[in-house]
Amino acid sequence: MKLYLAPMEGITTYIYRTAYYHYFGGIDKYFTPFIASKKLNRRELNEILPEHNQNLNVVPQILTNRADEFLLIAGKIAEYGYQTVNLNLGCPSGTVAARKRGAGFLSVPDALDCFLYEIYEKSPVKISIKTRIGIESIEEWARILEIYQKYPIDELIIHPRLQKEFYQYKPHAEAFEAALAAPPKFPLCYNGDIISVKSCEALLDRLPQTDCMMIGRGILKNPALPAQIRRMTQSTIDTAIGLQSHQAPQQPSLPPDDAVGAVSEALRKETLKAFHDEIFEGYAAQMPGETPTLFKMKDLWTYLIACFASADKHLKKIRKASNYTDYKIAVNHLFRACELVSASP
Ligand SMILES: Cc1cc2nc3c(=O)[nH]c(=O)nc-3n(C[C@H](O)[C@H](O)[C@H](O)COP(=O)(O)O)c2cc1C
Repeated sequence: MKLYLAPMEGITTYIYRTAYYHYFGGIDKYFTPFIASKKLNRRELNEILPEHNQNLNVVPQILTNRADEFLLIAGKIAEYGYQTVNLNLGCPSGTVAARKRGAGFLSVPDALDCFLYEIYEKSPVKISIKTRIGIESIEEWARILEIYQKYPIDELIIHPRLQKEFYQYKPHAEAFEAALAAPPKFPLCYNGDIISVKSCEALLDRLPQTDCMMIGRGILKNPALPAQIRRMTQSTIDTAIGLQSHQAPQQPSLPPDDAVGAVSEALRKETLKAFHDEIFEGYAAQMPGETPTLFKMKDLWTYLIACFASADKHLKKIRKASNYTDYKIAVNHLFRACELVSASP
């Protein structure tokens, strides 16, 4: 099973990705949040600088509906040594979609087809695609998939929701199933609502051919999720080939807590705190002052708070903090006062 970290604008920055790699790892590919400016602004450049992505397998993502712009940005990215870029055809935001970019581009399939023809003709690097399945109706997916099948897509990552659904309702697993059933032209990756080992198992029960998953919010809420999924898939394989679980070879890349599932609460907290501290220090060094750093950290806490049981009042204090001192006091209180939720949901 290949596992990817989803791009999340403002959250899965190079600072987050690097800290994640240091304390959790087990990710086959990391995707940058989208790059949309022809000149690559400072933030976008920071995301792709090789010195900011050491030892990570990173795929920069591009958001545009103009082939000339795409080729310009892809050319700049190639200069930094990247061999693959990812095209964003999934962003559902109203302003992006209204300009026929991201998922909005799916509303004009003929224009999308021309765009893909040109970029696949001329791109200096391989191109993977991250896509939704339409705008208004699941009926649109067949035509979109038919277009994709004409091109040498490096990998197609499918978030099986419509643009109009944003992040609501259940993903349409049947759309991913339809792609799996079509004559295989390129590797497929599933994305959407993998938030626990259980949800991963449910997908594999329904679509056992799935061999690649991209995870976003599930990892932000539970950074140990990839290790837990790997343990689950490994034990399924062990059972299938008749190995007792205690005979199974341990994967060296797994953090110790998830290799045996018996590491103390203290060690799990220590790892999580060190992970948090590296992200905090990273932003503090990069951002112009305490307010923007705290803004980034508070965004992250929207998700990270899910690691802790009964932590509402501590989250409020973190959100109220207006300087580093108050912030650190609130975070330290949280780590001291609240238990972590179960290691293996
Ligand atoms: C705050 C936020 C920012 C996102 N930014 C991007 C982005 O820059 N590029 C992209 O392709 N998808 C972006 N996404 C979508 C995620 O990559 C992913 O497709 C989505 O969250 C569904 O996966 P999940 O259920 O595992 O989180 C974003 C989602 C959220 C919630």
